[in-house]
Amino acid sequence: MSTDKRTITVRAPVNIAVIKYWGKRDEKLIIPLNDSISGTLDMEQLCATTSVAISPSFKCNQMWLNGEEVDMTANERLFRCIQEVKTMVGTSQWPADHHLQIASRNNFPTAAGLASSAAGYACLMYALCRLFGVDDAERISTLARLGSGSACRSVYGGFVQWVAGTDHQSSIARQILDEEAWPSMRVLVLVVSDHRKDTSSSSGMKSSVETSDLMKKRVQDIVPQRITQMLTAIKERNFHDFAEITMRDSNQFHAICQDTYPPIHYMNDVSWSVVSLVHYFNKLYGCNKVAYTFDAGPNACLYVLENVVPELLALITAIYGKSESKLEVQGIEYKKHPELNDSLQKYAVVNACPGALKYVISTKLGTGPQVLSTSFDANCLIEESGGIKNNDV
Ligand code: DP6
Repeated sequence: MSTDKRTITVRAPVNIAVIKYWGKRDEKLIIPLNDSISGTLDMEQLCATTSVAISPSFKCNQMWLNGEEVDMTANERLFRCIQEVKTMVGTSQWPADHHLQIASRNNFPTAAGLASSAAGYACLMYALCRLFGVDDAERISTLARLGSGSACRSVYGGFVQWVAGTDHQSSIARQILDEEAWPSMRVLVLVVSDHRKDTSSSSGMKSSVETSDLMKKRVQDIVPQRITQMLTAIKERNFHDFAEITMRDSNQFHAICQDTYPPIHYMNDVSWSVVSLVHYFNKLYGCNKVAYTFDAGPNACLYVLENVVPELLALITAIYGKSESKLEVQGIEYKKHPELNDSLQKYAVVNACPGALKYVISTKLGTGPQVLSTSFDANCLIEESGGIKNNDV
């Protein structure tokens, strides 16, 4: 490989917030109105992979997302992120005649409410920074935030808090617990729809900030208390409290969407039926064993303790599976649960919505981004001569 041509390929995780980020105090710098907390998901099931290459032999900057070329100049945030790195590393490392080629892909549906922009920007900024030898996680996270707010949390594994701050320097994410620290924690993503969402998070939250009265109460009084309670629940591995705060926060976020004028609608009937299922399941146990949370789309994300996953999956299959009670589960496998107890069986029969779920992704907490390669090898999505590899089209 010639020394004037360099490349790196990295992968970065999705994160799912348990205290939601919704609303900015600064649109350009992406400074949020409130702190948020999320879990980073294992990259074996959900991740973005990005290759970045730089060379004087590339004629211009080019980028491909899931095999499709994107206009890099049309996307203000993308342009800004790249400019920030360029300024940070200077012309000695990034001479004016050197151009970038970037290829990125997700192993899950883009813009289906599965936080694809978080994984995508964390991946891009991690790749760019590491290409130029910058490996300070806080710096990378701050840069990723400029692409998409929630991306700053995907730079760390385990549970992560994004401290809202008031400016570019003070708005930072930090790890609360690593991915090994709560080993029984599991996550099931119930994919209700993989269609592109109607209202993007960015425009939705802007509209909420401008029109929702509930939003002010949430930001001033509710979230600060919830953050403290959630930090305690996570540090004490108190699932019951963790679950209640998670569900209450998801509900409040969607209540704010409803209170936005005109209202925003992300959850659908299937989402609401998952809400009722989770409350029913927890009630039978007499304490919380499962927590739902919904982002800007209808898919449910369930945080759940490992020992109840087989029974929960059996119930989900009985309610949402296709007619022959089959439901595709991708990822971590569990032993088949022998039989649902009578109450759950009755519940499943009464509330059956056959075929309502496309599939389930079964995963757990995972690490922050990882470098996969630093050469134009099989992992790299870009050809050494430029352009994306055929198998990425
Ligand atoms: C509902 O990070 O996608 O997923 O900063 O405008 O890019 P921008 O928004 P984005 O918003 C995510 C919102 C959320 C909640 C969360 O992840 O905290």
